[in-house]
Amino acid sequence: MSVRIPIHRAWPGPADGPLDDETLTALYGRGDRPRLRVNFVTSIDGAVALDDYSAGLSGEPDKRVFGLLRMLCDALVVAAGTLRHEGYRAVRLDETRRAWRRAHGLATYPTLVVVSGSLRLDPAQAALADAPVRPVVLTTDDATAPAGLTEVADLVRCGTGRVDLAAGLAELRRRGLHHLLCEGGPQLFGALTAADLVDEVCLTVAPLLAGPGAGRITAGSAGPARDLPLRHVLATDDGVLMLRHARD
Ligand SMILES: NC(=O)c1ccc[n+]([C@@H]2O[C@H](COP(=O)([O-])OP(=O)(O)OC[C@H]3O[C@@H](n4cnc5c(N)ncnc54)[C@H](OP(=O)(O)O)[C@@H]3O)[C@@H](O)[C@H]2O)c1
Repeated sequence: MSVRIPIHRAWPGPADGPLDDETLTALYGRGDRPRLRVNFVTSIDGAVALDDYSAGLSGEPDKRVFGLLRMLCDALVVAAGTLRHEGYRAVRLDETRRAWRRAHGLATYPTLVVVSGSLRLDPAQAALADAPVRPVVLTTDDATAPAGLTEVADLVRCGTGRVDLAAGLAELRRRGLHHLLCEGGPQLFGALTAADLVDEVCLTVAPLLAGPGAGRITAGSAGPARDLPLRHVLATDDGVLMLRHARD
């Protein structure tokens, strides 16, 4: 049995005692408007990965919140780079989380949405082939689909050369996918920031220095800075910080 590392609220507050899943769910919530929430884990010095993977930065408390955020969303949006590199599997939720979703009028599972300009995707990858809900791929007008891809996913073509993310998100909302959770990676986060489409960032800061080498959690061309007020700070007994920044 895995040992749970207690998570406390450090700000605003402090609240009493370790937070249970019900309290954490309420703290993150779904909000009452369509929104795009981005979730990342980083080191103190801002690395996107340790030894090339995010797993080295993540621990049990981060995985716990990561799972709760998946439970709360209508669709899980991920860039093709991260899907390929991290070997994404089909989105699964345990029975407690599936029951929570049904009780709140949500589909049993969130829909996986992949952003890929090139359509360099493997239809046999478990994230696509074994998905409990037919995934959506946001892509460009001119990308050629590999054999088998349209058998496992819906293609939404928006934009020439690059995916027009605002148009893509509008199409997701037209399909009833209002609460979007983006799990990265950095190029997609950079493009979403540039297009001013990010409503919320949930950031786990692991208490370690990764040192030089790894990239940041955002990448791409420079653009204007965006204000994103702090909403809460959680801290774990092993020194991990979990920040939630969101627009009103
Ligand atoms: N620390 C964390 O929480 C975290 C989270 C996620 C990922 N990561 C790390 O990030 C690294 C992967 O990063 P990455 O450089 O591959 O970036 P990425 O953003 O994961 O993927 C970039 C790819 O996604 C597609 N894409 C993204 N934005 C697009 C847009 N606006 N239009 C069209 N296509 C778009 C393109 O795919 P196509 O090539 O198919 O066109 C592009 O090549 C890995 O090391 C991973 O471990 C860390």
